[in-house]
Amino acid sequence: MVDLNLRMMESIEAMMVMQLIQAAVGAPGEATYQFPVAASTHADAVDTLYYFAYWVSTAAFVIITGLMGYFIWKYRAAKLTDKAQSQMSHSTSLEVAWTIPPALFGLIVFYFGALGYADMRTPPDDAYSITVNAYKWAWVFRYPEGAESNDLHVPVDTPVRLVMYSDDVLHSLFVPAFRIKQDVVPGRYTEVFLQATEPGEYTLFCTEYCGTKHSDMLAKAIVHPAGEFETWLQQAANPYEGKDPVAAGELVFQKKGCTQCHSTDGTRMIGPTLKGLWGSERNLTDGTTVTADENYIKQSLTEPASQVVATYAPVMPSFQGKISAKELEYFIAYLKSIKE
Ligand code: CUA
Repeated sequence: MVDLNLRMMESIEAMMVMQLIQAAVGAPGEATYQFPVAASTHADAVDTLYYFAYWVSTAAFVIITGLMGYFIWKYRAAKLTDKAQSQMSHSTSLEVAWTIPPALFGLIVFYFGALGYADMRTPPDDAYSITVNAYKWAWVFRYPEGAESNDLHVPVDTPVRLVMYSDDVLHSLFVPAFRIKQDVVPGRYTEVFLQATEPGEYTLFCTEYCGTKHSDMLAKAIVHPAGEFETWLQQAANPYEGKDPVAAGELVFQKKGCTQCHSTDGTRMIGPTLKGLWGSERNLTDGTTVTADENYIKQSLTEPASQVVATYAPVMPSFQGKISAKELEYFIAYLKSIKE
């Protein structure tokens, strides 16, 4: 039993030491114990500054607690009658020692932090601009060529400016692999700049608590290898091409983020299920009844607060200007297909 515990301890300690070493010297770009993979040009500055602060703090911790332990032992009460012989009231060299080095440390962190911050806020003039629209609870990314996506797509080694706005509440875009995080604020545009260095798929989080489905407000950040981004753009500009209306309508349903609040199998979520919705009688919170036809669907999308189904809260965002006539047509075709 003792043996087993010892061995377990050894292996846990070995693991911790390994992780510390990895954290200290982690190969460039690779995930370390404390950081995810590094996939943007900001990562170096962020990680280096972090590790600088981390190791200085670790050293300070070891020195301070070590000295504390040593003095506790050295000046322990050997005899209860021991009395302090003299008191020291002031030491200029001590004051200098605990003021100047921490101040220098603070200034160094501030200086490099400010440099990194300025770099993150200053995209080159020719940066590729992507509009980010956040709402409860989805992300929509719009590209200058007309494409639209729910995941962020960027070309590798290209400066990209994200111009972001929110339709409702505070959200925040966070891609750990890019080391970028920026609040998305209602009523104004915010910007962040990134240049991806490694093709691949990374996770994009909403990192500002924005309501019930905040933790589901996830997307992917996809970095395309050279040349492949253009191909993706072309295909993304015509997402419904070659699809029949029902399949296209299902895609509309997914692309607009509706799945966060509406099921298609009868399950009650934040909003009513779409199963059996088409043609049914809807009992509204104001006591009236309305048939779910084209007009009902259109109005529900553009002015959702005007006809809230009884027992549900009026939380749906308006899709006015966000859904084209064609998309509405496809969506209705899809609704008809899940009537039963
Ligand atoms: Cu959006 Cu949290």
